[in-house]
Amino acid sequence: MQELFTRHSVRQYADKPVEEEKINTLLKAAMAAPTAGNQQEWEFVVVTDPEVKKQAAAASPYAGCAAKAGALIVPVGDPVSCRFPECFDADMAAAMENILLEAVHLDLGGVWLAIAPFKDRIAGLQQALGLPENVIPFAIASIGYPAKPKAEDGRNYDFSRVHRDRY
Ligand SMILES: Cc1cc2nc3c(=O)[nH]c(=O)nc-3n(C[C@H](O)[C@H](O)[C@H](O)COP(=O)(O)O)c2cc1C
Repeated sequence: MQELFTRHSVRQYADKPVEEEKINTLLKAAMAAPTAGNQQEWEFVVVTDPEVKKQAAAASPYAGCAAKAGALIVPVGDPVSCRFPECFDADMAAAMENILLEAVHLDLGGVWLAIAPFKDRIAGLQQALGLPENVIPFAIASIGYPAKPKAEDGRNYDFSRVHRDRY
């Protein structure tokens, strides 16, 4: 799966909307992710309105690029009422990664913008998206057509980090 190796964070976007069909495919990718006990505690807020994007971007000091993205996808859920609350973050993270990988497959680019567990960011995004207090926005997947062509894969795969049988 080549997308896995070419994915990188994209924070600058062309001034071009993301087609609804592609947004739907990204949402399908998110919901294809595994969850603990198959609890599927996620819901997703899709943001394309420029004013709401701007407000969402303001929820974190490190989310400025969200204002100019084609679309934002925000996995949200209630970490208290789900069956395996301890696994909430892992479930949400798996959905996030699926979105980012599928974005590459669709010739889009994206970046993971941290919201949880920072209380001020959660509160800011809850307000921007009109979420009730019990529904926590986990992160923002900021998605768009990359402004620049894809960089070549320049990663160093460091196999000294791999331990066999025992650490
Ligand atoms: C949990 C998590 C939180 C992140 N939060 C932010 C963020 O708030 N703002 C941002 O610009 N990038 C954020 N990133 C993107 C990372 O900076 C990026 O993945 C990392 O620098 C590696 O670069 P790459 O994605 O191009 O491989 C986050 C990534 C992860 C996994």
